[in-house]
Amino acid sequence: MSFKPRNLLLFGATGQIGAFILDALLSARDEFERIAIFTSQNTVETKADSLVRLKKNGVEIIVGEISDEEAVGKAYEGIDTVISAVGRGAILAQIPLIRLASAAPSVKWFLPSEYGTDIAYSPASAYEKPHQGKLKIRAYLENKIEVPHLAYTYVVTGPYADMYVYLLGEGPRAVGGWDAKEKKSTLVGEKGEGRVSLTTMKDVGTLVLATLRHPAESWNRALKVNSFTTTPAAIQAEFERQTGGERWTDVTYTSLPELRTLENQAWESGAPTAPLITLRRIWAEGGTLYEKRDNAMIGEPPVQTLEEVVAQELQRVNS
Ligand SMILES: NC(=O)c1ccc[n+]([C@@H]2O[C@H](COP(=O)([O-])OP(=O)(O)OC[C@H]3O[C@@H](n4cnc5c(N)ncnc54)[C@H](OP(=O)(O)O)[C@@H]3O)[C@@H](O)[C@H]2O)c1
Repeated sequence: MSFKPRNLLLFGATGQIGAFILDALLSARDEFERIAIFTSQNTVETKADSLVRLKKNGVEIIVGEISDEEAVGKAYEGIDTVISAVGRGAILAQIPLIRLASAAPSVKWFLPSEYGTDIAYSPASAYEKPHQGKLKIRAYLENKIEVPHLAYTYVVTGPYADMYVYLLGEGPRAVGGWDAKEKKSTLVGEKGEGRVSLTTMKDVGTLVLATLRHPAESWNRALKVNSFTTTPAAIQAEFERQTGGERWTDVTYTSLPELRTLENQAWESGAPTAPLITLRRIWAEGGTLYEKRDNAMIGEPPVQTLEEVVAQELQRVNS
């Protein structure tokens, strides 16, 4: 394949994961002619400083609403690759973004907002509530009648390691996590020995950049990538090792049946944490494990380790 992405447009680039993706792309600024971001007026007002910094680093800022088809169509002029990192609230808003991209003569490749759990892991995945929006996006991208002229890649990273290792501020402690300041934790699974694959947010950026560097290997497929595979028990051991070697005394366990009960209760009561508890249950059931991950297909870029993530979390809580 002779195609190389040279002119990029990002949606959601100033969001939680979009910022890491943009950082990684900027680390390879010379490989691209244009790096443009399409961002809302709201972001222009609320994140003015970071936009000034981005401009200084050679990022083109296009201001508009993603629902404004004329503005999106204009932004696509000269763009060959679109990377979307819009938030969960805007997943379905990508349908017109994809339709317009397919119609734009220069756009060849679309990476929709994924960067999470494998939504096609097993036949049961089709029924998981948090997956429904992203499943519709995949079906649309793969519909050659609706979208005849666009390659796609789903960058599937599993849960973010940096988020997995802290105890949620909202929702019950029983859903799992670590409070490194208070030295207390809740491990999901009887002994916390179930394996889970995690990706740091920095590595999501690294892996998206590696994807762009390997179009032939990445086009029209899901890439299942991650930083490392571990267990809650191994994370606990690493926290204890990096906090002086003493065993933490406040460590509790949540079994899978208990997590399922919490999940059902959250959905029944309409708790905003319900989708997250479902995702945690999917992760605890092994929904992030593959026979082989795809990092090698995109050049095996260097990724972070559990030791680094725990050190980073300790620094965060102690600063
Ligand atoms: N694997 C994990 O553990 C994990 C964790 C969190 C998120 N994710 C995934 O990562 C992707 C991005 O999520 P995020 O948390 O980084 O996104 P986010 O920070 O909530 O939002 C990203 C950007 O999307 C744009 N946006 C426009 N309309 C929106 C709307 N109605 N609702 C939300 N965002 C809107 C906004 O940018 P502008 O103002 O510039 O338009 C916003 O800054 C999603 O697919 C999400 O499922 C995965």
